Amino acid sequence: MKKQSLFNDSSVNEIKTKNSLRSLYKGVKIPWGGILLGLIVSMLAMLLLATQAENVSLMQTGQHKDLNPFFAYTLLYIIDCAVFYLSVIGDKALVTLNTRVRKKMWAKILKISARDLEKENPASLLSRITTDSEYASMPFTILTTVFSVVTFLLGLAGELKKMDLSAYGPIVGIAVLLALIVAIISVRMVFVVSTAKQSKIANLTKYYSEQLGSTKFIKASRGEERTVDKALGLIEERYGAERNYAVYQLVNALSASILQLALFGATFAAAIVLLKSGALRDLTGTARFYSNFSLICGGLMNIVVLPQVIAETIGGTKKISYVNSMESENLEEGEEFAKSDIAFKGVSFLYDDKRTIDNADMTFEAGKITALVGPNGSGKSTVVKLFSRLYKAESGDILAGDRPASDISLKSWRENFSVVSQNASLFSGTVKDNILYGAKTEVSEDELLQAIEVAGLSELVSEKGLDYEIGVKGGKLSGGEQQRVAIARALIADKDYLILDEATANLDTKTEAEVIGKLLETVKGKTVIVIAHTMDVVEHADNIIVLRDGKVEAAGPREQIVSGNSFMKAMED
Ligand SMILES: Nc1ncnc2c1ncn2[C@@H]1O[C@H](COP(=O)(O)OP(=O)(O)OP(=O)(O)O)[C@@H](O)[C@H]1O
Ligand SMILES: [Mg+2]
Repeated sequence: MKKQSLFNDSSVNEIKTKNSLRSLYKGVKIPWGGILLGLIVSMLAMLLLATQAENVSLMQTGQHKDLNPFFAYTLLYIIDCAVFYLSVIGDKALVTLNTRVRKKMWAKILKISARDLEKENPASLLSRITTDSEYASMPFTILTTVFSVVTFLLGLAGELKKMDLSAYGPIVGIAVLLALIVAIISVRMVFVVSTAKQSKIANLTKYYSEQLGSTKFIKASRGEERTVDKALGLIEERYGAERNYAVYQLVNALSASILQLALFGATFAAAIVLLKSGALRDLTGTARFYSNFSLICGGLMNIVVLPQVIAETIGGTKKISYVNSMESENLEEGEEFAKSDIAFKGVSFLYDDKRTIDNADMTFEAGKITALVGPNGSGKSTVVKLFSRLYKAESGDILAGDRPASDISLKSWRENFSVVSQNASLFSGTVKDNILYGAKTEVSEDELLQAIEVAGLSELVSEKGLDYEIGVKGGKLSGGEQQRVAIARALIADKDYLILDEATANLDTKTEAEVIGKLLETVKGKTVIVIAHTMDVVEHADNIIVLRDGKVEAAGPREQIVSGNSFMKAMED
């Protein structure tokens, strides 16, 4: 069989299993108490089953010579309840462990750099936090099964020693060998089918979530048929992968049943041989022998299916580990940021292979308004991401005063910046919740009202109230209203540096001029970078930088640039 890749993504495959387990539990408090209690209870229950089977059967049928039936029943009931309740504590510990890993995964994902996150499939990241975290408890479940089966076999050892096993041994030996072969094949298969299933589910989830976000557009452009057709293809692919998985499970279950049958058959045959040879004398002894060996076979079957469970667990933990292995941003390390000019010196940045910012030199003077202009796709928003250190420059330096940005802690750097982008990044909740998102301190009623007024939100707030629920991603507000909420939020955040990346592009011309005028007046003295395509906005700037194809085409005081640059001239007209 050709060696199959576990995942499409080869970087996931490179993760070593040992490392993946270590990274899975790193920084997670394992609830050992509950887990060990669950393990001990499970082992004790198996020990009781192995050593007390005869007593239990006598107690159940009221034939125990030392115990009266009432007492025997009560005792059995108490043991049963104790095993159940104590094992629930063990199960709870495993759920706790999964929850802790899930929390760690979410915190980890938020620490990965924006650029690295962008490259991942969101549906696949989602499953790391939701389903894959379940694998955290699996190694403990596997250990519990192994320990329980071993305890059970040890418990039966005394009983087995009394018997002549010569007739039985070879038959069981052959059956166990067969079982192992099936287990090995099953492990190889499970990697392929379960990975294919997971990737098809992820593709479909990603498609659904993208399309559900654009249902209005789909309907308006009569794209339902195309959307349904595309979904049908993905649903079929998912069905195919799930069918293969089901076939695999069927084959696996069938081989397990055949093996079980073979083991039980062997037990039965051995019982007959022993009975004939006189090693077993009566029917009670034969029945006992048969039931013990049936239990052993059941135990062995548990071990036989283990490699499959282990294989799936390794797969799940490797994917979690892949996310864990992604570089985390170090927010703390570095010096404090101090208000200063920010300068790009020979900065270049590549998306994949495309040089988007090309050896750019530009300075954003502290306390001044700099307009960054240029045609669509010239790299303005990319400059914002470099400026707020969401992306790292491929080469060149970003300086705060005379210090390289890399010397300054990310935390202190980002605490000084507010970015308002064209996509307002609002969340479910009220208007007020969204405006106060990111506020450093207690916000007074006056400050809130002033921000609302400057952002041009007064009418909306007096009509709908601050507690108006704005829907998922602010979907119950108009595009212009969403941007105004984002502007109010930036005002409340009150940072020294304000970046407005087409922050008023959705506002009508008159409102845009009003809002931008009031806003820039309010933030006077702060360092502002404003990206816009209209002269109404750009005319407030002290300095202008014109970007074209990632290169700085012109930079300098507004008056100088407006008259001397072809892009600016076209904007004026
Ligand atoms: N995540 C990305 N991956 C790959 N390429 C990207 C990515 N984001 C942007 N680009 C490309 O980089 C170039 C610059 O994009 P950017 O968003 O910085 O332009 P912009 O000047 O802000 O344009 P606009 O005026 O349209 O907002 C474009 O050619 C764009 O296609
Ligand atoms: Mg842009």
